[in-house]
Order: sequence, then C-alpha cells, then structure tokens
Amino acid sequence: MKHYVKLNLYLSILVLALVFLGCKDEQASKDTRSSEYYSENHRPQFHFTPEANWMNDPNGMFYYDGKYHLFYQYYPDSTVWGPMHWGHAESGNLVHWEHLPIGLYPDSIGCIFSGGAIVDTDNTSKLGTANKPPIIATFTHHDFVGEKAKSNDFQKQSIAYSLDGGYEWTKYKGNPVIPNREKIKDFRDPKVVWHADSQKWILVLAAYDRVKFYSSTNLIDWQFLSDYAIAGDNRLWECPDLFPMRVEGSDETKWVLIVSIQKEAPNGGTGTSYFVGEFDGKQFICDIKDQKWLDYGTDNYAFVTWNNVPKEDGRILGIGWMSNWQYAQIVPTEKWRSTMTLARELQLIKKDLNYELYSSPVKEFTALRDKTTSFNQMHISEEQILEGAFDPCQSEYLITVNLKETTAESFGVKFQNDIGEYFTIDFKSKEGKMYVDRRHSSKTKFNADFYKNIHTAPINFNKEQLDIRIIMDASSAEIFIDNGAVSFTSIFFPSKAFDTVRLMAENGTVHVVDAKTYSLKGIWN
Ligand code: FRU
Repeated sequence: MKHYVKLNLYLSILVLALVFLGCKDEQASKDTRSSEYYSENHRPQFHFTPEANWMNDPNGMFYYDGKYHLFYQYYPDSTVWGPMHWGHAESGNLVHWEHLPIGLYPDSIGCIFSGGAIVDTDNTSKLGTANKPPIIATFTHHDFVGEKAKSNDFQKQSIAYSLDGGYEWTKYKGNPVIPNREKIKDFRDPKVVWHADSQKWILVLAAYDRVKFYSSTNLIDWQFLSDYAIAGDNRLWECPDLFPMRVEGSDETKWVLIVSIQKEAPNGGTGTSYFVGEFDGKQFICDIKDQKWLDYGTDNYAFVTWNNVPKEDGRILGIGWMSNWQYAQIVPTEKWRSTMTLARELQLIKKDLNYELYSSPVKEFTALRDKTTSFNQMHISEEQILEGAFDPCQSEYLITVNLKETTAESFGVKFQNDIGEYFTIDFKSKEGKMYVDRRHSSKTKFNADFYKNIHTAPINFNKEQLDIRIIMDASSAEIFIDNGAVSFTSIFFPSKAFDTVRLMAENGTVHVVDAKTYSLKGIWN
C-alpha cells in the first residue's frame, strides 16, 4: 500500500513536471509567434488580412451584440482564387480584428460566392425564435460542374442562418431560394435591406450588365420586382448594395445603390461606383446624371456596408477589397494574398442639386495614433524632408495647404527608400487633378499593367484650402481629400520599405499651413 502511495506521488510529480514543461513550451511558442506574427514582407500592420491564403470581397457584414462581423471570399488551400468559402473575423471597434473559424463551406450545390447578411430581429423567416433572432446570410451558390458543362444556370441564390450570433451556420434545406430560371450566366452577390414603407425585405443582385431587385416578407420566398441598368452599358456588374441614407445636415433621405464594375474604372480595371436616387419598394430611380466612383484609386473593389449598425450610432459603415482583378492573383506576397481597406464611414452630401458620397476612415481608427510631429507655416519652393519619430510606411499625414498663397504649378508628397524606389502624390491646380504615381515604387516589376500608368483623380482647387489626409501601411496608401470628397486607394510593393517623406513643390512655392504626422500602432501583436 505504502509503495502504491509513493509510486502515485512520483507519478503525480512526473505528470506535473511534464504539464509544466508543456506549458512552458506552449508559452515559448506563443512568444515566438507574437514577435514574428504578421511580420512578413509587405504585410499590412493595421489593415485586415487573412493569416494565410487567398481572400477577395468582403461578405455578410452585420453588427450584433457588440461585434462587427466580417466574412470574406476565402480559399483556404492556396494563395490564388479557388473554390470559395466565407472566411470570418470580428471586431468590437472596426479597427482590431480577431480571426474566427470559416463560416460557410462549399456543399453539394456549389461553392460560396459573395453576398450579405442581415439580423432578422422579428424572426420574419421563422428560422429562429423571438428570443433568438436568426441572422440570415444571403449568398450565391456557384456550381463548377454546371459551369464546365456550360449549363448557364450554375449560379443561384441561397441562404444560411445562425442562431448564436453569427458563429455557427446552417444552410437552409430548401436552397436555392432564388433559382436561375432565365439561365443568366452571371447571376450573383445577393444583398438584403429592410424597406420600411412597404414592410418588406428587398434583395438586390447583379445579373451581368444590370442589377435585379426582389422582395420578400420572410427572406425565403422572393418575388422579382425590376431591373436597373444603364442604357448601352455592357460591362459586368458585381456586388451591389442598396440602402437608405440621410443627406448630411438635413432630414432628406435618399437611396444609394453601390455597384462594383469589372472594367473601365477611372484608372483601369475594377472599381466601385454608386448611384443616388429613390427606391419606392419596386424600382430604383436614379437622380444623378452619371454613375459616380466611390474611390478613384485602382484598389477598392466590392465595397459594401454593414447591416444592423445601431440606430443611435446612425452611421453607414463599409469596407472594400483593397485590390484589382487585373493583378490581384499575382501581387508579390507569399503567405497570403489581398487586404481589406480600412473600415470607412460614408456620408451623403448635397451640393447644389447634386448628391455625392464621401468616404473616410471610421473615427475609431484614430485610436491607433501614437507619436505625433507638427510642422507649421512652411513655404516650400523645392522640397522639405519631414523628420520625426515615425515610420513612413506605418503613419498618417494631415496636410493643409493654403491654395490662395500657393504659386507652385505642382506640389505634393514623395515617399522614398534609399534604393531609389518611390511613390508620389502630386496636385496640379491648372489641370484640376491629383496624380498618384506608383510606377517607380519597385524595381522588381511583377506585372506590366501595375506599373504602366500614372493615376489621376479630379480635385476642386477653387477654394481657400486643400485638406490632404494620407494613411500609409506597408503596402498601401489611402488618400482622402477634403474630408473624403475624393478618396483614392492604391497598393504598392517596394523591395525595401520607404524611409523618407518629402513635401515637394515645382515652379513656385506651396504654402503648407499645417502638416501633422502620426505614427500608427499595429493591430496584430
Ligand atoms: C467580385 C466577385 C463576385 C463573386 C466573387 C467570387 O470580386 O467576382 O462577383 O461572387 O468575386 O469570388
């Protein structure tokens, strides 16, 4: 007996020691992970990227129980596009993200293309209970076998529901809820909004060169309502979004229709556009003359908004995929591919009889600001290096220019490294334009198109001052002019991080009233 006690004691000590060593090992590996985690070449430090493999469009975004959910087109087996899943992450503040297990997997009907999610608060679908409102994801089932067989009805709309706030999902057994009877080859990306006047859910989806609207009272049975298209436009439309929006400073409400377009965006390739008008429960009537662009840069696609943002908050919040189908699959990152833009707030501004959608980073983003340096009243006639405690590729710049006292034909900002690679942003008032030049941002050119053109955006110089905000991460610049009147997103891949920032002027002087820099904290460690 005594021997047994002793033996047991020895065994317990041995087990405790092993557990202790095991914990230490785990601790050690956690420590190693924390210093190397998200430190690969070009890895964004405060933007959302998957830990590994391929990502494209943001999907199924909703707010519930204190969390903003973000799903995304995800292929977990490779760094190029493949059979799509919905990857999943959540955030309490739209800035810090936590990775979660994959939300939706391919099944016997197909793989899971883009779409949205809504909180069915009144349980109209009867898929939950009054106490546990279901969250309903709407997505496209894409059937590769049908596609290969050229059946043309290989894209259909389906739903899935979650009864635990968005973590576990069940596919609806009656899928698809919108079959593809007309056999439209491109028939996808369903997103739903509540239309209070008609007390119905409205679903918008993209059907090749147009969008189609459907209505439902239970999110399961859908009736076709109408199409919206631009006469003569035969580009491919994708990832639509429809929502009501209050015009800033008034009680007027307009409906905004966002559509991503697969070609001929302002600077080439794919881009996100919008229309402003009325939606009467049946059709969309556009009030603005032309389609407009939400972002003039090359790298903001499939931008869509969060559902169920609390009424007291009242903001329209969204996020875009920070890439372009022209080159997304060959950008030089190794472990993962693609990044999301910063989460952004949209504002609808009425100017004379026109409506414009402004976009800027959500206010929560400023929590990442760390050290700051200020420069005042500079008259620059050639160049001035901005020196301070910041890493040029993990910083924010707020620059106010007095346009009345500026004589320079061209002025701007240049980010550069010591091997001669650079990225510039230039303003030319005579031409009414901003020029963004990434042509020399890397010596190793992975794709000719990426480095071919200098990019532009229209800027209004007919006023006292110009407000420039630039947010630089390891491989992206997000530029916001005059509080988001123009936004411009551009990615780049320098062989060595940029380490100097200069303010530049040509043929005259630029009067910089104020230039502030902030170093930004990373979100991953
Ligand atoms: C847009 C898009 C969507 C589609 C998804 C597939 O980038 O082409 O239309 O659902 O990507 O990944």
